[in-house]
Amino acid sequence: MNLKRWFAVIAIVTVVAWLGYDAMKRKRDDDLVRDLMDARQQQPDEEPEVSALAEPPSNMVVNQIPGNIWFVGKYEDGGGVEIPFRPGESPQKSGDLTPLHDNPGYIGPEQCQECHREKYQSFLATAHYKTSRPVNETTIDGSFEPGSNTFQTSDPNVSFEMIRKDDEFLQRVHFFDWSFEVPMEIIMGSSKMAQTYLYWHKDGLYQHNVTHITDGNQWINSPGYIDGDAAYARPIPQRCLECHMTYFDYRGNKNRYTPGSLILGVTCERCHGPAKEHVDFHRENQDARQAVAITNPADLERQTQMQICGQCHGGSRALKGNALSFRPGDRLEDHYDPPDDEQDAKNSVHTSNQLNRLSQSVCFQQSQMTCINCHDPHHNERGNQKLFSGRCMTCHESESDCGFYPQPDVDFADNCIDCHMPRRPTEKLRLQSVEGDVFPPLRDHYIRIDEMATSRFIRGVENEE
Ligand code: HEC
Ligand code: HEC
Ligand code: HEC
Ligand code: HEC
Ligand code: HEC
Ligand code: HEC
Ligand code: HEC
Repeated sequence: MNLKRWFAVIAIVTVVAWLGYDAMKRKRDDDLVRDLMDARQQQPDEEPEVSALAEPPSNMVVNQIPGNIWFVGKYEDGGGVEIPFRPGESPQKSGDLTPLHDNPGYIGPEQCQECHREKYQSFLATAHYKTSRPVNETTIDGSFEPGSNTFQTSDPNVSFEMIRKDDEFLQRVHFFDWSFEVPMEIIMGSSKMAQTYLYWHKDGLYQHNVTHITDGNQWINSPGYIDGDAAYARPIPQRCLECHMTYFDYRGNKNRYTPGSLILGVTCERCHGPAKEHVDFHRENQDARQAVAITNPADLERQTQMQICGQCHGGSRALKGNALSFRPGDRLEDHYDPPDDEQDAKNSVHTSNQLNRLSQSVCFQQSQMTCINCHDPHHNERGNQKLFSGRCMTCHESESDCGFYPQPDVDFADNCIDCHMPRRPTEKLRLQSVEGDVFPPLRDHYIRIDEMATSRFIRGVENEE
């Protein structure tokens, strides 16, 4: 066969393939239209007051876009709704899926209670424990009362209503004259700054459009969301869960997990290692006083101890291999890429990288300091300035070690923090609200002499720049 014939054959194959693809795509669109028509015919009289299952009106654009996502818009090029489930349907619950992987021994914090009662009890009040929780009456923030349960975007035709139906909490989306509902199932965030909400569609985990921000008790767009859209198709990737949960069974394709496998909260075993063997042993050997098969971070060398915290407090490091492969005692660089400072500066993942900032401090460089010189992970010590200042003075013998001491009306021993570790709003945690961007302030762990912070403190101004 000569070259020309070859080209002809290739051209024909390409055209046929394209036509096939196009027909397939058109068929999918046709299927959708037919399904929507069917759905329309099927529900004449069981229409509830506001139907969660109403299909979009026929004057809307409905498209399936790559990634199995449905786009519903009023205009071809305007804002719109993005959902992973078919318009007119609800997200689907998957039944009891069997995990794909063996659990390496994560059993959850309740199992520690019988032998480490005090630690367990005090731990329940920490941000780590609360950072992911099931949605219920006692855990969820924000108002569900008519009048204060809405979030109006800058587009008058797009708004959200947070509603409660018995034990269920939902976000109801109003998009022009269409509306639908999505259940809120998992809370992410301890409420210190915010709560954002996740839901299941089959074995996929997705984020809600509306987040609750604690400051001002407001409903706002989730970080990075575009005001005026109703986006419910943002997948929750592994790395996100890895920083906010203890364990999950990953099924692949970005955001697929075994629902029954989740151990919520950042709990004991993320700092001590999977504890099944430890618990089995001590249940069988009640007299054994020597701990078996568990890591005490205090026994680790300085850098490795800090790297336990660095899994989640060391910037947005991408995974090198599987999530949850890090064990206390391992080195971060064996499991993660170095933090991407450029990406961190542009927001997206929001941690203020305490590992890196602290390492720049003279305190750190001229001592053997680690995170646990100041933090006891088993207690909620938030906001206790006096307690933290006491920890500064385990090395700095007394307040008179401060070169600025004394000053009229300043009780140094009560607060070393506001002058030397001011809170700074970080670009990295940007939340969009109607009034503009909100930057929750976080403590800068680069401990140093900071004239700006000192002058603000003396003037009684909250440390926000
Ligand atoms: C049946 C009893 C029992 C259970 C359940 C149990 N432990 Fe222990 N644990 C012990 C004993 C006994 C020790 C050794 C004495 C001590 O340090 O308190 C110990 C010690 C420890 C230590 C210190 C180790 C060291 O080398 O200093 C850690 C950390 C620990 N356990 C974590 C856990 C965690 C996390 C859980 C729950 C997942 C748990 N334990 C559940 C009995 C238990
Ligand atoms: C954020 C990390 C972290 C979490 C979460 C955590 N620990 Fe610890 N734990 C540590 C560190 C660091 C030490 C060593 C320093 C210390 O003693 O506080 C420690 C020490 C211990 C010890 C031995 C020291 C002692 O006081 O007996 C036990 C037992 C223990 N933890 C149990 C638990 C249990 C049970 C939980 C969950 C209810 C838990 N830890 C959650 C980090 C953590
Ligand atoms: C598996 C991830 C993970 C690990 C490991 C981890 N943390 Fe955290 N930590 C978090 C997350 C997520 C938050 C934010 C929780 C929230 O507010 O929702 C947090 C919050 C905190 C806070 C703020 C608490 C408050 O109430 O303001 C401190 C302090 C802290 N971590 C210290 C540590 C220290 C010290 C270690 C190591 C001993 C550690 N963390 C290990 C994920 C982690
Ligand atoms: C590298 C670890 C890491 C990843 C990845 C990560 N987070 Fe966080 N997240 C944190 C830490 C740490 C904090 C606390 C802020 C701080 O001190 O830096 C936090 C804070 C938050 C808060 C505010 C909690 C509060 O204090 O009230 C929310 C909400 C949140 N994260 C949601 C998410 C979501 C959703 C994702 C995935 C899309 C995600 N995070 C990915 C570590 C992480
Ligand atoms: C583990 C010991 C340790 C702890 C805890 C500690 N420091 Fe330091 N710090 C040092 C050492 C060592 C130096 C260097 C020698 C010096 O100036 O005393 C230092 C230096 C400093 C300096 C001078 C920095 C400079 O750039 O010259 C300040 C300010 C400071 N510390 C504040 C604090 C504050 C505030 C805390 C508590 C939040 C604290 N330190 C906790 C060990 C510590
Ligand atoms: C009102 C603000 C403020 C408070 C509160 C404060 N500092 Fe300072 N600190 C400063 C300033 C400003 C300097 C620099 C003074 C100078 O010019 O040498 C300083 C200097 C220091 C230094 C370096 C001393 C030297 O000689 O280089 C240390 C260490 C220190 N402070 C520790 C502390 C500790 C510990 C506390 C709490 C007990 C504390 N500071 C409380 C503002 C403050
Ligand atoms: C010298 C003392 C000191 C050391 C060491 C230290 N921290 Fe902190 N950290 C503080 C203080 C003080 C706060 C503010 C606490 C508060 O106001 O509740 C804080 C707050 C935090 C918060 C909450 C963020 C915020 O701004 O509210 C996180 C997360 C945190 N620390 C993580 C770490 C990690 C991880 C390490 C080790 C890499 C570490 N810290 C080492 C003193 C320290």
